[in-house]
Amino acid sequence: MKPRIFSGIQPSGNLHLGNYLGAIRNWVKLQDQYDSIFCVVDMHAITVPQDPTELRRRTIEVAKVYLASGIDPKKSTPFIQSHISEHAELAWILNTIAKIPELEKMTQFKDKAQKAGKESASVGLFDYPILMASDILLYDTELVPVGKDQLQHIELTRTLAERFNKKFGETFILPKAFTTKESENIMGLDDPTKKMSKSASSEYNYIALTDDEETVRRKIKKAVTDSGSEIVYSDDKPALKNLINIYSLLSEISPKEIEKKYVGKGYFDFKNDLADVVINFLQPLQKKIEELSDEKVLKILEDGAKKVQPIAKKKLEEVKNKIGFIG
Ligand code: AMP
Ligand code: TRP
Repeated sequence: MKPRIFSGIQPSGNLHLGNYLGAIRNWVKLQDQYDSIFCVVDMHAITVPQDPTELRRRTIEVAKVYLASGIDPKKSTPFIQSHISEHAELAWILNTIAKIPELEKMTQFKDKAQKAGKESASVGLFDYPILMASDILLYDTELVPVGKDQLQHIELTRTLAERFNKKFGETFILPKAFTTKESENIMGLDDPTKKMSKSASSEYNYIALTDDEETVRRKIKKAVTDSGSEIVYSDDKPALKNLINIYSLLSEISPKEIEKKYVGKGYFDFKNDLADVVINFLQPLQKKIEELSDEKVLKILEDGAKKVQPIAKKKLEEVKNKIGFIG
């Protein structure tokens, strides 16, 4: 039996290069060695207001991105979170062992609540990390491949698993996060101190996976750079470092080799080539996404749900039994 990985993305906005490099790219690499479950977390998406028609469209779109990126349904199991009601049930139970201050200190909650306006942030937004813990713990997950912004949630998941195990006996595996240094935090093109984000206020923050050639060129041309004109990979040049990381991850050329390639050249050449690298990555991906029909993808997601359902059911029954519910 292979160890299990679990991860998910919310269908709540345009997926961007940060999502791909921070998460999906690693999933594709890991799916050979792990029993992999990849979820489209629509129940997380509704913690902020969503238009129902858009939510439906985006849920299918995210699954298409998984498949077009190389998630192979023969090796991995993609499914839609809301198809498995056990996620919500376990979340309710975990709610009863989580403490309010543990959730209050979650950075993502603080950021999003601030954006929503403190008075209008939903209880669901507050509870979001518990639902994520439930996603992970239902499947005896060992490894959770994510970007850096999720590490705090995985730490909380471990805390809750440990607390439950102590109180009710060994039930949950304590999961570990999986991140890779160069890709765990892709920064905004307009501001290298903030992560690339689908909820950014300016479209110049991110490159969406759906961006066309002209848009990519325009965004990269506008991307902020640091002082100086040489192409060097260094912590004191965070904007350039971020661009080199993107270049390196998409082309599989190391940052050192990229530095060498641009000795005696400047930002103009570097940015032109970076735009080529990004476009050469995006165009085949977009073509594959277009070729996938909604019907085909929905069938794969339904098959996925059928496959994971018994695992979730068994774990939830074990939990209910341990806490004293009558089966
Ligand atoms: P989300 O878009 O919040 O549902 O995130 C989906 C996945 O992409 C999570 O694993 C995130 O950690 C990852 N991710 C999002 N933004 C970035 C980023 N700028 N750099 C690296 N990973 C990211
Ligand atoms: N919270 C994650 C994000 O915003 C998405 C997510 C939900 C997730 N459940 C998960 C990621 C379980 C990993 C494992 O990116």
